[in-house]
Amino acid sequence: MHCSRGIFVVLEGIDGTGKSTLVKTLAKRLGENKRTVHETFEPTATWLGDAVRRSWKENVDPRTEALLFVADRCEHTLKIEQWLQGGNWVISDRYRDSSCAYQGAYLSKEMGVARACEWVDHLHEGTALEPDLVIIIDAPPKITLARLEERDKLEKFEKQGYLETVRAVYLHLASKKGRHLVDGTRSLNDVADDCWSLMEKYL
Ligand code: ADP
Ligand code: TYD
Repeated sequence: MHCSRGIFVVLEGIDGTGKSTLVKTLAKRLGENKRTVHETFEPTATWLGDAVRRSWKENVDPRTEALLFVADRCEHTLKIEQWLQGGNWVISDRYRDSSCAYQGAYLSKEMGVARACEWVDHLHEGTALEPDLVIIIDAPPKITLARLEERDKLEKFEKQGYLETVRAVYLHLASKKGRHLVDGTRSLNDVADDCWSLMEKYL
């Protein structure tokens, strides 16, 4: 049976912007519209994702960390390709822009935001896909951290000052091709509706 290629959607944003919750809501809506969908996330649940998580405990250079994320993404991309070839939609909680934003935020101190983004992005040459749609959910860390504190899940990246920089890099990326910014300070329903109207165009 011939299937046309699926659509690749990525949700981006700082921790606690609602990405993992939204992936589920949006996948459900796709199902209601008779589309098959594969939900996924990064860092992945494979040994390469474990290598990334291990590096947080080892205090490695941000460049090393970026390379580990890219290695995890390279294998993830091969799977995403297969799902898309099978005609499935794919929604990923984080992809390439996460590395630009998070590792770029570290490197921006020494090279500025634009160059840091470019450096990280270059690492992906020949290994990552261009998503059909990247939705950046935007909210200040003060709001998202309060949500996460409720969940008692404060980890390495979840520090306000650092997340302010990460958010600034996301806002820099938002003006680039294929990216859309959605205001994540509103109710999850409103945020999901905005994401859905961007996705509907591809149905
Ligand atoms: P992320 O995957 O971006 O880290 P989650 O989907 O895990 O975010 O959400 C983190 C927490 O914040 C969850 O308890 C979720 O219910 C809550 N949350 C997320 N977005 C909103 C929102 N717009 N309004 C209220 N609570 C939210
Ligand atoms: P994630 O599991 O999405 O955490 P959360 O559910 O709290 O948002 O991601 C773990 C952390 O990894 C998150 O703080 C962002 C960070 N990260 C990077 O620094 N670079 C990357 O390329 C990716 C994919 C994630």
